[in-house]
Amino acid sequence: MAVTSLTPRRIKFEFPEQIPLVWTPRVPEISAAANSVSLLMPHVEPYVIASVRAVLDQLPTEQRVAAAGFIAQEAQHQRQHRIFNASVTPQIPGMSRVESWMHRTYGWLSRTRSTRFNLAFAAGFETVAFALARWTESHLRTLFDGADERITTLFLWHLAEEVEHKSVAFDAYEQVDGSRVRYLLAAVSSILILSGYTLISTVLNLKAQGRLFHPVAWWRLLLFSISLAWEVLPDLAASAMPGHHPSDFADPIALSTWLNQYDPETASLPLWWTGESAQQPVVLR
Ligand SMILES: [Fe+2]
Ligand SMILES: [Fe+2]
Repeated sequence: MAVTSLTPRRIKFEFPEQIPLVWTPRVPEISAAANSVSLLMPHVEPYVIASVRAVLDQLPTEQRVAAAGFIAQEAQHQRQHRIFNASVTPQIPGMSRVESWMHRTYGWLSRTRSTRFNLAFAAGFETVAFALARWTESHLRTLFDGADERITTLFLWHLAEEVEHKSVAFDAYEQVDGSRVRYLLAAVSSILILSGYTLISTVLNLKAQGRLFHPVAWWRLLLFSISLAWEVLPDLAASAMPGHHPSDFADPIALSTWLNQYDPETASLPLWWTGESAQQPVVLR
């Protein structure tokens, strides 16, 4: 089923004055990995946007409207992560150099690959983002109990919108090409690049935390990675099967229910409650 309307939610996140490198104090490795994902967003999401935008005039009206909403949402995602990252990067020695590698990698893909490959990459990336949302919802307490509510809200708002627009890039790809072989190839490329840069950035984050040689940190990250792969890889394999459509995937319910509390009049979303450390409910505007 095609998505027909998508709301770009322009939320003003009120981050702490100085964003702490560790904002998940119970499990500091989660901050390292999540920061790493955030640091990628201003590089990969513009590539995904450009890949979908390149085929807008090949889409029927309904799909073009959905794609425009998708582009608006992704533009907000990378914009919010850029603001967050501006406070994180200076705290991590060597990070700005890795960010320039990320920028060059996605720029190179965008310049040198075909329109069809780029769109397949976007569709595959979106499947990975949806799988990450499903996995995150299954582990909310483990990941975010005691975490900073404002930063948690940023990440969960992003994932909730990934669920909402899960089929848009896929539908555009089906319309323009639809080869499942190209889709799988591009999706695997997407995962490899994401994993590689996330690992490099996580190493730099842990080093900045002073926990690079902490065995517990690596043990926890290994367990999280295996658990995440157990969600992402089967989802990706299923999505590459002939006849499969993203709407066949069951959505994570809590994220979607929470996103429905967005108030378009005030452009606000309730803060995600992160357990015992949560303060009074605050509305982000
Ligand atoms: Fe996004
Ligand atoms: Fe997305």
